[in-house]
Amino acid sequence: MSENRFGAVKSILDFAAARAAARPIVMTTAYDALQARLAARAGIDAVLVGDSVAMAVHGLPSTVHATLEMMCAHTAAVRRGAPDLVVVADLPFLAHRRGCAAAAEAAGALVQAGATAVKLEGLAGHEDVIAHLVGSGIPVMGHLGLTPQSVHLLGGYRVQGRSVDDAEAIRAAARQAAELGVFALVLECVPAALAATITAELSVPTIGIGAGAETAGQILVITDLLGLDPDFRPRFVRRYLDGAQLVQGALAAYAADVRAAGFPAREEILA
Ligand code: KIV
Repeated sequence: MSENRFGAVKSILDFAAARAAARPIVMTTAYDALQARLAARAGIDAVLVGDSVAMAVHGLPSTVHATLEMMCAHTAAVRRGAPDLVVVADLPFLAHRRGCAAAAEAAGALVQAGATAVKLEGLAGHEDVIAHLVGSGIPVMGHLGLTPQSVHLLGGYRVQGRSVDDAEAIRAAARQAAELGVFALVLECVPAALAATITAELSVPTIGIGAGAETAGQILVITDLLGLDPDFRPRFVRRYLDGAQLVQGALAAYAADVRAAGFPAREEILA
């Protein structure tokens, strides 16, 4: 595995190497150049330009509102901020459900915008698309469990795989995704025991979010881990910063300074 100042993952091949070495893979989402640069400097292994950008950045109600144009623009910004990082970009809602040619076109646009790989949700009904993209030279990350693009079908953001049948279906889909050539598999909001079982039986690494401690890696949404949304606090998120309070406090201090003629000060005034 190539060691470097950004972390140990330099290409998607290093995902398998990390899995083989039992070295946890660390991912976050990133939506812009600055976030990507900070993630790279912090030693994050790889970033995901998640379709969660629709909610976290654009204030839209769900990820089904992410468009290919939106995903390409954010992917390009992330790539500019982190030229050497593995950047995975989400195929937006339905982009992989319109057949192989349309999926290849969408994935190609993301790769040309700067993505190293694409991620797509689910498996049933687009197995051929996964094989086609991998066969076309585009690395694919899978995503099973809670698949937010299916929020309306799932009846909300709920833990998946709690019943024996559901767990078995996710487990079988995970095996099939690996056979189809995904280089890694996101498991979102599934019971920890199920994630551990899947992780143990796959040679490709699992990347968990709300899936317990025994996946091969973890991913968190960057705005969640930075605590930027005070109203969103699922149990599986750990906040590493009270970002909302810090940012709001800084903005309030700036406003107070301007109103009290305390900003700009003499040394901040250009001659
Ligand atoms: O869009 C996203 O942020 C994701 C992660 C939750 C894995 O898919």
